[in-house]
Amino acid sequence: MAQIRPDIHYYPFDIGMVGNESPEMIQSIFHQMMPEFDQDNLAPLPYQSFQLDNIVSAFRYMAQAQHFGKVVVSIQESSFQIHSHATYIITGGTGALGQILTKWLIQKGASCIVCISRHADTYNDLDQNKIVYKSCDVSCEKSMKHLFDEIHQSLPPVKGVIHAAGTLDDCSMIEQTWERFETPMKPKIWGAINLHQCTQKCSLDFFVMFSSSASLLGSAGQSNYAFANAFLDGFAQHRRFKGLCGTSINWGPWESGMAVSVSQINRNMTDKGISPVSADNAIASLEIILDKDFSLSGVIDIDWHIYEKTVEGQFEFIQTLYHGRKKKSSQVPQQTLSDQLMQAQAEKREQMILSYLQKTGSKIAGYEDNQHMDVNKPLIDAGFDSLMAVEFRNILNQALNTSLPATLIFDYPTLQHVADYILDDVLKLQHDNIDLSEKDVMDEIESLLK
Ligand SMILES: NC(=O)c1ccc[n+]([C@@H]2O[C@H](COP(=O)([O-])OP(=O)(O)OC[C@H]3O[C@@H](n4cnc5c(N)ncnc54)[C@H](OP(=O)(O)O)[C@@H]3O)[C@@H](O)[C@H]2O)c1
Repeated sequence: MAQIRPDIHYYPFDIGMVGNESPEMIQSIFHQMMPEFDQDNLAPLPYQSFQLDNIVSAFRYMAQAQHFGKVVVSIQESSFQIHSHATYIITGGTGALGQILTKWLIQKGASCIVCISRHADTYNDLDQNKIVYKSCDVSCEKSMKHLFDEIHQSLPPVKGVIHAAGTLDDCSMIEQTWERFETPMKPKIWGAINLHQCTQKCSLDFFVMFSSSASLLGSAGQSNYAFANAFLDGFAQHRRFKGLCGTSINWGPWESGMAVSVSQINRNMTDKGISPVSADNAIASLEIILDKDFSLSGVIDIDWHIYEKTVEGQFEFIQTLYHGRKKKSSQVPQQTLSDQLMQAQAEKREQMILSYLQKTGSKIAGYEDNQHMDVNKPLIDAGFDSLMAVEFRNILNQALNTSLPATLIFDYPTLQHVADYILDDVLKLQHDNIDLSEKDVMDEIESLLK
């Protein structure tokens, strides 16, 4: 540069260091600059924004030096929010999980939480100014209507409901009676229906029901509990069909609460490879579920390897869950590109691999559908950058079920070189080159790319 513009001098300057050593200087620069932005005398740098899930395009765009100004990767704002001037309902708010949920809502900025349970004790370690404890049996329609009339009249609008009221009455099927069967049903099923009715006029952000892994995976001695929870799972769908928010979460055991306090359940779970979820992980999962607006999710800390052995051959659902992917791929054995090349006639091989490389390379470099890379042009000149080189090599590794060198396109700069290398050195296949009809080749390519 000095030769072209000897009048310009360049000096290294580290603004980060200035910020560390004399932050007041940065502050004073900002004070001078901000009014200039306000008056449109200065404008921010131009930028091109990409969503986080499209980060590959952002890097590619930058690597190809297509950008002016900044390349911005934006993280989608969480759609789920807790409002400070709203009321949040937690049924079972005095239970083990209810207390954790209450603390979490307060941390998220809630200032009015109504905790409903039949015996509404006050918990002194929680911020009492923000919590209203109400004694009410959620399964009683009349009491719930009365309570919600009071809430609607005296408190800010209800924006969220967490239905965590629940009871257990475990027994074997032989010992089952209607009375026992009804015990978990009452708070869960009637509670959910009453909440649904009482919040019809509310504009809710969420209506979360605490279901259990019992309705997803089954649980010995808990047929009544599994049934009650299965209702919640279906009820979430029912609310969605009606255009309302609705979420049911099949929780595995938490570190605290009803599951770990019953030693038999605890033992059954441990034997099956299920461990308790920590409150932090459970709350983090809850936030993801709310953020993604899932209607039905399971949050279970499970060792599928142990679990599968304990239920082997019993449930097709579990087999599908555990083997889903593996089965699919073994049911339809997929031929690799190398298999297909090996099975092809020697004279067709070179054209086949070249066309495959051409299609793959063109796609990676972002060519239009009707454009094709020149097989004799160095890939770097054809628009490849280092990221694309890695992507290209990874795709070939997968297609050939091999491990090609990271320096592939530097050692073999054109598609023709790559094709020769694959056929001669990697697969060691004979490939006499004779002219084939375009249709023959295209048929082969289509089958390769399927
Ligand atoms: N803890 C776990 O590991 C776990 C795992 C999976 C699912 N879940 C589900 O998560 C929820 C909370 O569990 P937890 O461990 O916190 O249970 P918990 O400690 O036993 O608390 C249950 C809460 O529900 C209330 N409740 C029960 N029946 C009620 C009724 N008819 N009306 C109003 N309130 C009622 C209880 O208060 P009163 O007795 O005063 O009414 C209590 O506040 C339950 O629905 C449970 O099925 C928990």
